[in-house]
Amino acid sequence: MVRAIYPGSFDPVTNGHLDIIERACKVFDHLTVAVLGNPRKISLFKMEERVSMLKTIAKKFSNVEVDYYDGLLIDYADKINANIIVKGLRAVSDFEIEFQMALANRNLNPKVETMFLMSNNIYSFISSSIVKEVAGYGGNIKDMVPMEVHQIIVEKINSFKND
Ligand code: PNS
Repeated sequence: MVRAIYPGSFDPVTNGHLDIIERACKVFDHLTVAVLGNPRKISLFKMEERVSMLKTIAKKFSNVEVDYYDGLLIDYADKINANIIVKGLRAVSDFEIEFQMALANRNLNPKVETMFLMSNNIYSFISSSIVKEVAGYGGNIKDMVPMEVHQIIVEKINSFKND
């Protein structure tokens, strides 16, 4: 049984993330979507909110589960017995940082492979930061985030604007 992890900040989840989840769960027997809960990284959405949104969109996939981790990804991989890390690659700009993370993780544990799925071109411009930027200025993010969580995302971003 091949167990894979799709890790990230998911602050918030986007259609680009959903596309990777949908494709990765067809390739691997089991996929854990893992949210980094590290408080050192400032996020807009609380970890529980990010996990909850991911659970909402992932419930239609029978072999996908959602979890969170703190600390090193490679330690979490060891804990859940996963030997594949899946990442999405949108553009050349992603490559450098992803390459560095993949090498660092391999150095820490050579038994865990990092595998990349190329983003679907229709989602390659989408990132969590772009979603927050557009929604923060009142723009339409309907095409950027999964419809099941669109309202939650808009409300959260609006609540910060009105603070
Ligand atoms: O969605 P992101 O922010 O690009 O995801 C990055 C993430 C969370 C996968 C990565 O930063 C991570 O796993 N950090 C945990 C600490 C760790 O394991 N660092 C070693 C890799 S360099």
